[in-house]
Amino acid sequence: MVKTIEWRDGKGVMLDQSRLPLEVRFIECTDCHMVADGIKKLWIKGAPAIGIAAAMGIALGAQDIKAESFDEFTKQIEPIIKMMLSTRPTAVNISWATGRIERLLLANKERPIDRLKELLIYEANKILEEDIEVNKAIGRWGSEFIKDGDTILTHCNAGSLATGGHGTATAPLLIATEQGKRIQVIAGETRPVLQGARLTSWELIQAGIPVTLITDSTAGALMKNEMIDLVIVGTDRTTKNGDVANKIGTYTIAVLCKEHNIPFYVAAPLSSIDFGMHSGDLIPIEERHPDEVTTIWGHRVVPEGVNVINLSFDVTPANYVASFFTEKGAFRPMDIKKLMRADIDIESLRLKGI
Ligand code: MRU
Repeated sequence: MVKTIEWRDGKGVMLDQSRLPLEVRFIECTDCHMVADGIKKLWIKGAPAIGIAAAMGIALGAQDIKAESFDEFTKQIEPIIKMMLSTRPTAVNISWATGRIERLLLANKERPIDRLKELLIYEANKILEEDIEVNKAIGRWGSEFIKDGDTILTHCNAGSLATGGHGTATAPLLIATEQGKRIQVIAGETRPVLQGARLTSWELIQAGIPVTLITDSTAGALMKNEMIDLVIVGTDRTTKNGDVANKIGTYTIAVLCKEHNIPFYVAAPLSSIDFGMHSGDLIPIEERHPDEVTTIWGHRVVPEGVNVINLSFDVTPANYVASFFTEKGAFRPMDIKKLMRADIDIESLRLKGI
């Protein structure tokens, strides 16, 4: 399994996903600006991975701060946090990570500045290590919904490249395979940046899982021909009511699933659930540069003067989701909002696999 990001010798080292699989290149980020740039340019991408990168970027930025007091320190770290938050708006994982960092600093405000700097490195690594465990737990719960012989459609990349470990949507596939279930995966190519074609198929081939690539618009035809048993996707932000923002095209797949009676599952670590946002209508949707659509590997393929809409994400309403796979278990969309409540018996809400 490939390590998409790690802290090494005082630097944040990330695998440049924008060049995969043609080129395997690691980039050593020596300052916070490089990390922010890397997130914007999709060197690193995928919701949990950019949360981890943002935490490492803040830890890197903190090392260069010269301050005598906690107030001076926070005054200088605030613009770094803002810079990370401004990189990509849809995934909630960046604000989830910065929230953790802000709470950590406040709880340790009496400590010397050098200690705060160490704590930020420690916290960034902790976020990464926790994500690895979260991925495994999602994999264990999700694998209960996969039968021997199943064909599973996935969209975009929600694998190890997008997270600290096994991935989110990919984790149940890996665990099901470890359990001896023979599965096939259909990966949608995921226009325009081709995360499915370039990244998911690359990862699955390395994991020894049979993978078939389709253009995004082929999904409906395969469902009609009963060639897909279930769908598992990741999420960039799931709101309290169970609405799901994920890569553009996810909504289309969910609607197709409803038409063909195919279960549509979402692998959602709690770090991707925005418990403070009530509905998917409120999620900021990133719109990316038209060049991603009008060019292929730097070559323009459409006429000059054409207008482009390049939404990076769409929102699938909760009623299309059969179940969420989280690190705490599998749950119905209506139960998502209860997961953070201390008075709820989580066990009683868990859905059983098939
Ligand atoms: O634009 P990207 O490649 O960052 O979008 C990634 C996705 O949409 C993933 O499906 C999502 O982040 C889940 S990652 C575990």
